[in-house]
Amino acid sequence: MCGIVGYIGTKSAVPILVGGLKRLEYRGYDSAGLALVQGNGKMIVHKCKGRVADLEKLLEGKDSSATIGIAHTRWATHGEPNDCNAHPHISQSGRIALVHNGIIENYRILKEALKAQGYSFNSTTDSEVLVNLIEHIQKSNNCTLLEAVQQATKQVIGAYAVVIIDRENPNQLIAIRQSSPLVIGIGNDDYFISSDAASVIEYTHDFIYLNDGEIAIVGRNEPVRITTADNNSCRVDVSKLQLSISQLEKGGHAHFMLKEIFEQPNTLHDCIRGRIDKATYTPVLSGVRDNRKHFLDARRLIIVACGTSWHAALIGKHFIESFCRIPVEVDYASEFRYRNPIIEANDIVIAISQSGETADTLAAVELAHRCGAFVYGICNAVGSSIARATDSGTYIHVGPEIGVASTKAFTGQVTVLLLLALTIGRERGIVPEDRCKQIAKDLLGLPQVLDSALKQVTPEAKSLAKIFTYAHNFIYMGRGVNYPTALEGALKLKEISYIHAEGYPAAEMKHGPIALIDAEMPCVVIATPDSTYDKTVSNMEEIKSRGGKIVAVVAEGDNLAAEIADYVIVVPRVDECLMPIVASIPLQLLAYYIAVNKGRDVDKPRNLAKSVTVE
Ligand code: G6P
Repeated sequence: MCGIVGYIGTKSAVPILVGGLKRLEYRGYDSAGLALVQGNGKMIVHKCKGRVADLEKLLEGKDSSATIGIAHTRWATHGEPNDCNAHPHISQSGRIALVHNGIIENYRILKEALKAQGYSFNSTTDSEVLVNLIEHIQKSNNCTLLEAVQQATKQVIGAYAVVIIDRENPNQLIAIRQSSPLVIGIGNDDYFISSDAASVIEYTHDFIYLNDGEIAIVGRNEPVRITTADNNSCRVDVSKLQLSISQLEKGGHAHFMLKEIFEQPNTLHDCIRGRIDKATYTPVLSGVRDNRKHFLDARRLIIVACGTSWHAALIGKHFIESFCRIPVEVDYASEFRYRNPIIEANDIVIAISQSGETADTLAAVELAHRCGAFVYGICNAVGSSIARATDSGTYIHVGPEIGVASTKAFTGQVTVLLLLALTIGRERGIVPEDRCKQIAKDLLGLPQVLDSALKQVTPEAKSLAKIFTYAHNFIYMGRGVNYPTALEGALKLKEISYIHAEGYPAAEMKHGPIALIDAEMPCVVIATPDSTYDKTVSNMEEIKSRGGKIVAVVAEGDNLAAEIADYVIVVPRVDECLMPIVASIPLQLLAYYIAVNKGRDVDKPRNLAKSVTVE
């Protein structure tokens, strides 16, 4: 949510800032802007409503000689997306400018106090309050910018990552982090500040990850210094990030989402690599092995997550309860954090997050820690806040996911949860050895299965998309482990096509949603072989007899469900544990092609952002 870039060095700042913003657009794309301090000490700000491409147009023919600057792409929280509310925001005197990701919760009180001191505001943002607060402190105390920033951070409440530029000191940027991500990339003779290291990976692989409460002084030709509001110096740790530019490009696909759907055979191969002993078909997760006692003693697991990660968690609950016989609760992180949850000795909290930056999930992790729980993370983004805040964990290793609608991260999360359940189940002696080996073997073959699934279902998904492009509503149904698959299918469709879609456990239809069934209501049913297959088939009959149109996802060789359905998508027949992964492929593609037919901006759907760093 909002992307920040800062640059200081010897190169022209504009192309670096704009290039960084383009890579950060997944975080928000309501408006974009940048501020530069030129050699003559003049502060220049360019900003506009719209995409980074609009900012680029605005910059055409403008002076780009500055070697220091800050930039921002916005996901609006306070104030509508317009030119005025776009960042950077400048202080009243015009001396300092800042870019901000997050929310200043007490901005109203601060704004009133500043108004009483004669400050006036051009925007309706909380960020403009912060820049004026810093200026006011600096002026009234006649102190340095750093001192003013230190004092300001003591007055503001909320979540923020901020980068500040001062026209009177064109040799320094100041960066602050409190609950919103911020990294500093170290170049040869320059520094790159960003919300996400990936955005500047073409310039450096060496990064300093700021921690909460840290303030970095990033000066030209000098080492980065990190301090706190109380002026305590902090250690500066540099980490290497291995990432290639090709992982951040579309690779010939029309959209990142399509690339990410088709990448899944490879991403799952990477996700599984080294985690199953190929000689013995034994799952090995180092995070579980290193914390064996915690998992042996666990009396309950609580999984916290948001969005697609929450759907993966629901599937993980099935795996863990069946292979480990440990009760599992799945909670929305946003509910958990405000629910005064009961956490007892030997409870383990598992946080799932693709980005590793979701504000609610991060807060849930912090709360779980305060309650004394051992906290395990399942993240994709290496070095992300949640990955660092958890006691241990497993990366899903599916590579950067850029399309706002999650696809390959979902299948990676489900895969890791299955490995986790098998590993814990083995350690506890619950899952039968031959069952464990069988699933492990099937997991090793999964990339190939997905490859065939993609070939098999793409033409079908495309032609169904043509039939249903103009549908106004959809119901997705499944039972057992395929109920969360249905939820995820419905979420994909609504996120990118803006068609209303709901996921239901098939048996719940009778308790309300069946009233919605008519010929205008397509029902996507995941009717793959498992212990509830016959029941699902009966549910399909009930829909059919009420005139509903059924699209069934069935396994190869099926003839019962396939006969009842109006349209059928056939997927490879796999063990029921792997079915949520395989059955998700046609659901992802169906949503994708419907959205394309509707002319939607698939990778940047309206109102959404990939990394939700505000609550
Ligand atoms: C946003 C994204 C979703 C994602 C959710 C949770 O809503 O658009 O794709 O599932 O956040 O994100 P996380 O990074 O914590 O998995």
